[in-house]
Amino acid sequence: MRRLKSIHGEWSSGTAFFLSATGAVVGLGNIWKYPYIAGQHGGGAFLLVYLLSMFVVGLPLLMAELLLGRRGRGSPPSALRDLAADEGQWRAWSGVGFFAVLAGLLILSFYSVIAGWGLDYIWMSAAGTYKGASAGQVQGLFSALNDTPWRLMAWHSLFMVMTVAVVARGVRQGLERVARLFVPLMFILLAFLDLYAAVAGNLVKAAAYLFDPDFSAVNGKTVLIALGHAFFTLSLGVGTMLAYGAYLPERVSVFRASLWIILADTCAGLLAGMAIYPLVFAHDLPSMQGPGLIFTVLPMAYGHSPYGGVFGVMFYTVLVLAAWTSAIALLEPAVAWWVEMGISRAKAALALGFAVWLLGLVTIMSFSVWSGVLILGHTWFGLLDAVTGNVMLPVVGLLVAVFAGWMMTGRSLRQELSWSRGVFRIWLTVIRYVTPVAMLLVLLNAMGLIRGGI
Ligand code: TRP
Repeated sequence: MRRLKSIHGEWSSGTAFFLSATGAVVGLGNIWKYPYIAGQHGGGAFLLVYLLSMFVVGLPLLMAELLLGRRGRGSPPSALRDLAADEGQWRAWSGVGFFAVLAGLLILSFYSVIAGWGLDYIWMSAAGTYKGASAGQVQGLFSALNDTPWRLMAWHSLFMVMTVAVVARGVRQGLERVARLFVPLMFILLAFLDLYAAVAGNLVKAAAYLFDPDFSAVNGKTVLIALGHAFFTLSLGVGTMLAYGAYLPERVSVFRASLWIILADTCAGLLAGMAIYPLVFAHDLPSMQGPGLIFTVLPMAYGHSPYGGVFGVMFYTVLVLAAWTSAIALLEPAVAWWVEMGISRAKAALALGFAVWLLGLVTIMSFSVWSGVLILGHTWFGLLDAVTGNVMLPVVGLLVAVFAGWMMTGRSLRQELSWSRGVFRIWLTVIRYVTPVAMLLVLLNAMGLIRGGI
């Protein structure tokens, strides 16, 4: 059965959808992960492997989530339940949607705390706090922030309020409005940061790090890292694209939209790399990834560059914008699901936002007071990150591929992907045979079950 509209409304245009989806996929991963893993694993050679991974895992799965969402026209649990019923499959498939929504909320609980770091650094940049500071002093500023739970709590609260306020307004008045304004702004700011880094930093060394192809650095592990990142950076496995697909107008091509989203996401990673590494190398600072790069190495670089404060403010603003549009995308599937159960959107956003906020407090405490409390060898923050990223997301990705490839009839699929038989056949073969195997490898590797895992 083909459903016409979701009860949540519809994106007002293909562009509105593209910007919202781009906001969802461009997040912290693009900024603090892609540039580093590319540099470490062969630069241009990694880019090639990564683009190949995009076509084996990223594109087929992104298309699968979008088309299932559009056909189911509801939040992930409802869409999968209805589709399973239509196709005469087991209704327990709905559980995959539930699991995805849960993963999204868990991720949001720490994503918001990290975004809070970003907010604090906008402030510190504006105030000139790290201007001219030594490595030890910059490190000290970051430790001091994490040792001050109330300060983290204030930013985390502000960020959750910003997120809930948008989701509560709904698809057109909330999600789409923020994306139309702030996603282009984010790219414009990134472009300015690139120009600045090109002038004030070591452009040649950074370009060599990111783009010089070194094929000797590529091995089996590189491929697994590229596959894993392709999947994570497209925000797959948390139901976001299922939910965003549910609001997709009939006339928009899932295939074309997916290609554009992948292009924008890849550009964001490259632009971020070219904003960060010229400065890092100009000051002979170590290249690294994650929080260390963004909150200790980069402030050193800005702190010793002309007008570093202004561009620091700009950089952390980009970080917060990237996190904000992703946070909205993490909350939306759960809120849509509650709305379908008869709760008003505002109430659902508030209640779920509050629960996530509470959970975020545990992450905050795990940075200081509870940093000694280890569960399976991880702090709470580390545990959440590992369980969601290494287990929940790949499991959902695998099951979505199986559902789209094996549980749906060819006729239903073709109605959603209305292009030539040849291209359809290729997609179907990949989503049936290649994507699940690749997802399984990513899962086993992430769980440390493949020898020499990362
Ligand atoms: N893609 C985001 C990034 O690169 C992270 C992410 C994973 C995400 N799953 C998501 C964001 C779901 C929004 C929704 O940082």
